[in-house]
Amino acid sequence: MKGVVLAGGNGTRLLPMTKVTNKHLLPVYDQPMIMYPLKTLMAGGIDDIMIVSGKGHAGHFLELLGSGHDLGVRLSYAVQEKAGGIAEALALTEDFADDASLAVILGDNIFEDTFDFSTFTTGARIYLKSVKDAARFGVATLLDDKVTEIIEKPAQPKTDLAVTGLYLYDHTVFDKVRTLTPSDRGELEITDVNNLYIKEQSLAAGMVAGFWSDAGTIESLYTASTLVRDKHASHRG
Ligand code: G1P
Repeated sequence: MKGVVLAGGNGTRLLPMTKVTNKHLLPVYDQPMIMYPLKTLMAGGIDDIMIVSGKGHAGHFLELLGSGHDLGVRLSYAVQEKAGGIAEALALTEDFADDASLAVILGDNIFEDTFDFSTFTTGARIYLKSVKDAARFGVATLLDDKVTEIIEKPAQPKTDLAVTGLYLYDHTVFDKVRTLTPSDRGELEITDVNNLYIKEQSLAAGMVAGFWSDAGTIESLYTASTLVRDKHASHRG
């Protein structure tokens, strides 16, 4: 299995910090944001990883991470010309994937939990977390432990189960992305991809243990830094 970190987008919710640098290079406590999703993939045993970034400041990722040698992984890079959504960014990794399955993680998602990707074979797998502010996320409805529907940023969420930004996909994901049309926010939505897997009855879901935060807003960036800091402090005793 190969890995993909999606680090596109304009980071408009983090202006003015994102005026002169990329959102995923901002600090989350003591590390640039992108180090956290990278480490989540690495801890799951993945050592061949593509980073998809937006055009602005794309070179800074290369400066920070290089070939991946220092981390003990192999890194490749792709550039998303415009902020056309998570699914559009994923489409850029088709040649890199080369028919392998992919663990895809959003560059602003910070997980305390670790994952074992080695048992994944076909279909797709998503990871859910019970949250207080579900309306900010893709929200899953379950029936007997099976996800029956995901709604992107519902005004009135039916559950508190946020779809986190970690997804496992088989190689059919690229055919699915090709069938998508842009949402109201003008993007190809990863939620639409996941709903296609639900239709095929091939979407599995797991729960995330420990803290999870995106770091894409001022408040969530602050929360993520605090969670990481608290964890460091508890380890120091
Ligand atoms: C994206 C996805 C959403 C998911 C979230 C997790 O939202 O569209 O389904 O719950 O990431 O971080 P965005 O960050 O684009 O608003």
